[in-house]
Amino acid sequence: MTYHAGAQAIFAQNLTKRFGSFTAVNNISFAVSKGECFGLLGPNGAGKTSIARMIIGFSPISEGKLLVLDQDIHTHAREVKARIGVVAQEDNLDPELTVLENLLVYANYFRLPRNVARERAEEILKFMDLTDKAGAVVDELSGGLKRRLTLGRALINRPELLILDEPTTGLDPYARQTNR
Ligand SMILES: Nc1ncnc2c1ncn2[C@@H]1O[C@H](COP(=O)(O)OP(=O)(O)O)[C@@H](O)[C@H]1O
Ligand SMILES: [Mg+2]
Repeated sequence: MTYHAGAQAIFAQNLTKRFGSFTAVNNISFAVSKGECFGLLGPNGAGKTSIARMIIGFSPISEGKLLVLDQDIHTHAREVKARIGVVAQEDNLDPELTVLENLLVYANYFRLPRNVARERAEEILKFMDLTDKAGAVVDELSGGLKRRLTLGRALINRPELLILDEPTTGLDPYARQTNR
């Protein structure tokens, strides 16, 4: 494993995650090149989510080295988070807000100017086939539509790196395959 500055979106070397005395991720090494689509496969409990959470800076690494977009996520959290998009395994939309409001609130985390946020939100709604649902309260959406919104929301900051944890959960076969 060699680190190539500027060429790798993720560089993980001897990455380990422990919860107390339990080792959830044991000494793994991998690199993801920029532009590459990289998947982690494994049964429930294999440690996929634990790896994703370290990459997005939600969980500190126990041992090893982890560079995300050439930065240490823990010393450069704000900078790295602005450049990545995240779809978590668990749904974390605001159920009381509408579809459009969820996108605008998320845009606000990235301090996007209001007009830019609106423009991108509309673009995302179109892309995810959710324009008709813009005014619908999230709580009333089906699981699949919520997932589509969560996927679209992750694009609001035009991320260089997208981390998707079980992205197709709840999507129907058509939505899984659609690639517009
Ligand atoms: N916060 C935590 N505290 C203790 N154990 C955890 C925690 N999060 C995950 N684990 C354990 O780590 C292992 C890997 O879990 P996880 O990364 O969620 O796997 P996967 O996403 O591949 O299903 C599991 O045995 C899980 O119970
Ligand atoms: Mg998981």
